[in-house]
Amino acid sequence: MHNPLIAPSILSADFARLGQEVEDVVNAGADIIHFDVMDNHYVPNLTIGPLVCQALRDYGIKAPIDVHLMVKPVDRIIPDFAAAGADWITFHPEASEHIDRTLSLIREHGAKAGLVFNPATPLDCLRHVADKVDMVLLMSVNPGFPAQKFIPSALDKLRQARQIIDELNSDIRLEIDGGVKAENIGEIAAAGADTFVAGSAIFGADDYGAAIKKMREEIVA
Ligand code: DX5
Ligand code: ZN
Repeated sequence: MHNPLIAPSILSADFARLGQEVEDVVNAGADIIHFDVMDNHYVPNLTIGPLVCQALRDYGIKAPIDVHLMVKPVDRIIPDFAAAGADWITFHPEASEHIDRTLSLIREHGAKAGLVFNPATPLDCLRHVADKVDMVLLMSVNPGFPAQKFIPSALDKLRQARQIIDELNSDIRLEIDGGVKAENIGEIAAAGADTFVAGSAIFGADDYGAAIKKMREEIVA
């Protein structure tokens, strides 16, 4: 299994001070930056695009950027995000006409590719495209908003996903997103996740470093 990565979601950052917020959270020990892209179409909220990703790179952010696309259609925005400095690009299968083609498109543009499964979306397509997948992201809330409650059935789904990945002898990362905090990250890790998105639990804390440290301690406990 991979070393655990903590991925603060900038959806809960102060957008008026975004560059500084990201710098602060990286200095506080974040491994990668989770970048939530919403289009007010696939999900009922509207956030940020490639220009903001590029702005973070121009500001001097070196940490890997994990772009979570909640947009439909998805293909036409992928080259722009890759050019803007995205390291990982994940998308929801429901938002793509041709999942295999979209995964290839991401890799062709030099980024690592990932599939995102909503709480009620089965993992069925994963086995068919696993060789083109670098990351599986399981949603533990319905996508669209920060600070929602973790849906407990995501734990079983994590175990299922972990089993598939291990059976395939694959090094796909298994990421979890939604309602993750120090209180539940231990059982989430035990269920098989190795990459942990947390928005409100980190940016809502007074001390980002302490919040990240506490999470790390719970993962290995
Ligand atoms: C939800 C987003 C999440 C969200 C997580 O649609 O994909 O990344 O920001 O926020 P928390 O950790 O507060 O649930
Ligand atoms: Zn996300």
